[in-house]
Amino acid sequence: MRKNIVAGNWKMNNDLSQTEALISDLKHQKNRGNAEVMIAPAFTNLYSAFNALKDTSIEVTAQNMHFAKNGAYTGEVSASMIKSVGIQTVILGHSERRAYFGETDLILKQKVDAALAADLRVVFCFGEELADRNAGNQEVVVASQIKNALFHLDKLVFKNIVLAYEPVWAIGTGETASPQQAQNMHKFIRKTLNDKYGKDVSENMSILYGGSVKPNNAQEIFSKPDVDGGLIGGAALNAEDFFAIVNAF
Ligand code: 13P
Repeated sequence: MRKNIVAGNWKMNNDLSQTEALISDLKHQKNRGNAEVMIAPAFTNLYSAFNALKDTSIEVTAQNMHFAKNGAYTGEVSASMIKSVGIQTVILGHSERRAYFGETDLILKQKVDAALAADLRVVFCFGEELADRNAGNQEVVVASQIKNALFHLDKLVFKNIVLAYEPVWAIGTGETASPQQAQNMHKFIRKTLNDKYGKDVSENMSILYGGSVKPNNAQEIFSKPDVDGGLIGGAALNAEDFFAIVNAF
C-alpha cells in the first residue's frame, strides 16, 4: 500500500546555525500520525542535518542534483556526492528549478535516470501554471510533464519514485488549490499511471500535494482519497507549523 509522506522543502533558506536550530526544534516535536517525514535543507547543510537526524525517523533529502556522474560542471552536485553524505532521496523537477534554472523535461528525464541509477529515491515535482489552468489545460500539461520525464522507465523502478503535484500558481502565494481541485488532479495522475503501467504502479504511488499547505488547511487536503501527503515550503520553516501539518494525517 502507498505511504503517507510529509516533506519540507526548505528551498534557499537557513544557513548552518539556523539549520541546527530548526532541527533541534524538530526533534522536540512528536509524530502522532502515520506519515513519513522528510526535510530538504540546502546542500551545504545536508551532512550536518543527516548526522543530527540519523537516529530519528526524519529523513533528510536533497533538493536537486546534476545528471552527470562527475566532471567539469562548475557549481553542480552529483548523485554519488549526495549519497556519500548518507542521503537516500532527491527532489527533482521543482517548478522553481524549471522556471529559474531552465530545467526542461529532457533534462529532468536525465536527472531521474541518474538518480535511480545511483539508487536514490526521487520525489518528482510537476504542475501547471496559472495560464494553463485558466485555459483548462492543466491535465494536458501535467500529463506531458509526467510522460516526458518518466514514461520511458520500467515499471519496477516506480517503487523508488514519489510524485508531487505542485500547481505553480499555489506556490508561496497563499493561494491553495481547493481540496477538490487537488483530488481531481491526483485522481487524474493516478489514472495516467494506471493507463501506462497498471494498478501495481498507480495504486502504490504516493502522490503529494504542494502549494501553500498550512496547519489550517492540511487536514482537509490530506483527507482526499488520492492525496497521500504534502510537499511543504514556507510552513516547513517553523517546527510547530510543520508538525501540525505532519500530524494532520
Ligand atoms: P509553499 O508551501 O511555500 O507554497 O511552497 C510549496 C513548495 O514549493 C514546496 O516544494
